[in-house]
Amino acid sequence: MASNSDEYHLGTSTDEIERLGYQHQVWLDEAVDLWRKAGFTHGQQLLDLGCGPGFATSDLAHLVGSTGKVHAIDNSEHFLQSVNQRCQSQGVAHVTTHLSDVHQLPLLDGSLDGVFVRWLLCFVADPEKVIAEACRVLKPGKPIVIMDYFNYHAVQVFPARESIQALFKAYHTSAIKNGGSYDIGAKLPTLLQAQGFDVTVTKPICRIARPGDRLWHWVEMFNKNYVPKLVEQDLMTPETRQALEQDWREVSNISTALFFPPPMLGIVAYKQS
Ligand SMILES: C[S@@+](CC[C@H](N)C(=O)[O-])C[C@H]1O[C@@H](n2cnc3c(N)ncnc32)[C@H](O)[C@@H]1O
Repeated sequence: MASNSDEYHLGTSTDEIERLGYQHQVWLDEAVDLWRKAGFTHGQQLLDLGCGPGFATSDLAHLVGSTGKVHAIDNSEHFLQSVNQRCQSQGVAHVTTHLSDVHQLPLLDGSLDGVFVRWLLCFVADPEKVIAEACRVLKPGKPIVIMDYFNYHAVQVFPARESIQALFKAYHTSAIKNGGSYDIGAKLPTLLQAQGFDVTVTKPICRIARPGDRLWHWVEMFNKNYVPKLVEQDLMTPETRQALEQDWREVSNISTALFFPPPMLGIVAYKQS
């Protein structure tokens, strides 16, 4: 059953802020490519929707420059403090943070040149409503850029380990239990079209991790923060956790091992004029 809590289920601790910062670095090229495809540029008014601690927010602020503006929206006060601190330390004054639920945005109709939404729609109760709100605040003809998970069952490790497959199955269940879905990407083109967008880019984002590389470490950081929550939610027993840790250590010591992380979908869609 879906949880009614709006709280981000990986939490908002300092460890999670550090993980999101690392994650931003690991997946930055893919985001920048989508920003380029959508024509994000100087002087624009952009929105980072579900911005978290705002690692993308500050990069977008540098992209639009001081003649532009970036709005950053999240329902975590702690994350927004982190956005404000980072912007202040970088001398960025054209970011405005809003503590708000993403299902109802505190912004005017038709006021923005672009919206960026990454790793949010997989967590929300009503992605259709969030997309409708993004559509409302965009100027006609302007883009939304989305990066999110789809086809989560594609995760594989070679050589195969049952405990690692079981882990990703538990993550998938956990997202659903908390009201979201790590397969959301597949539904997004249909939802976007229904809300008045023309979808122009659907780009698969698939990579392979090898022991010791930064993508491998990204998976390790994810596991470090998320596995204890699976145990708390009774989605993993302490015994399976132990087996998992041993299997992960073993596979990490095989130099030819490969890990296929959850695929993502990059989308650019334009609000119909
Ligand atoms: C995985 S983080 C992604 C953060 C950021 N978009 C990024 O790319 O690093 C998900 C974010 O969505 C926020 N979030 C989830 N549900 C929300 C809601 N209903 N309203 C506002 N923010 C929400 C969480 O607080 C969290 O900061």
